Amino acid sequence: MRILSGIQPTGAYHIGNYLGAIRHWVKLQEDNECFFFIADLHALTQPQDPKILRNSTIEKAIELVALGLDPARSTIFVQSQIKEPTELAWILSTIVPVGELERMTQYKEKSKKKGKESANMGLLNYPVLQAADILLYKTEGVPIGKDQVQHLELSRNLAKRFNQKFGDTFPVPKAMVPSLEMGAKILSLQDPKRKMSKSDPPDSQLGMLEDPDSIRRKIANAVTDSGKQIVFNPAEKPGISNLLVIFSLFSEQSIKEVEKKFQKKGYAPFKKALGELLVEKLEPFRKKYEELKRRELYIQEILRQGQKKAQSTAQNTMEEVREKIGLLSF
Ligand code: TYM
Repeated sequence: MRILSGIQPTGAYHIGNYLGAIRHWVKLQEDNECFFFIADLHALTQPQDPKILRNSTIEKAIELVALGLDPARSTIFVQSQIKEPTELAWILSTIVPVGELERMTQYKEKSKKKGKESANMGLLNYPVLQAADILLYKTEGVPIGKDQVQHLELSRNLAKRFNQKFGDTFPVPKAMVPSLEMGAKILSLQDPKRKMSKSDPPDSQLGMLEDPDSIRRKIANAVTDSGKQIVFNPAEKPGISNLLVIFSLFSEQSIKEVEKKFQKKGYAPFKKALGELLVEKLEPFRKKYEELKRRELYIQEILRQGQKKAQSTAQNTMEEVREKIGLLSF
């Protein structure tokens, strides 16, 4: 299957990004044709310092490889280094009603914060560029966390609409979303009614490269629910249920097994054990990252190779699209 997914270069990658997405990418690359990219163009919808953006794009490539993406198996590249998605995004924007974009949850939330008058056009267009990313590579499966499902729905609609209007061109991509127990939506450590988010305060998220003291402190301070029972009940005990999911996935034990292990123990010993588990499990990633950080040229080469490969796929699809919609091709 052809698989594609992307991640923005801003903020530290947290355990939500890992458990909801990157961990699945690492598995999928074993027996699929995979494209993974750093979505720097999507990051521009928020104000960015050019120097920081450039550095963090490279940093994040290092991080993705440290977390297990394998350049020998996957095509790893930077979104903006391929020009075709922005061209296709324009074309797709001519077959999507504005109302459909205005109904997107992410747009509604972000434009509410800024006010519709000053929210930038990129925020509204965001899912159209995402659809272009997906369709351009003739993607069949898109592994994402729950928060991206609505954007994927739009990509599916656009694929169908385009195919209907201009003839069969794009496969209709399938969302590959893990179950809640498998990490689809890891919640904030400070407000477990909301998802863990890169744009929220540091204490609410746990980075994949954090040092042991910080891991222990953040888990110890994680907001939990009233009561003492360590049971999985997302509706009534979102805080403890979130920590149970994290424990279960990093220890590779089922939630039932973890519940049983801590059946008669209180929250504090459970959190202490989780802190230690995370210190142990995240250490190899930190080490690998430190090692790769000294090999920036190697990472640049990975991105260059990725760019080449992604580009030839993108150019082929774009030629087909231009031909189908009646643009000149000489
Ligand atoms: P981004 O950078 O916000 O997130 C990257 C991936 O991490 C998942 N994720 C989570 N999963 C579980 N729990 C959480 N708390 C959590 N937070 C984030 C996201 O669902 C996502 O899979 N628009 C995209 C980037 C993008 C893209 C694409 C993705 C651009 N083009 C094409 C797929 C296909 C984004 O901003 O992801």
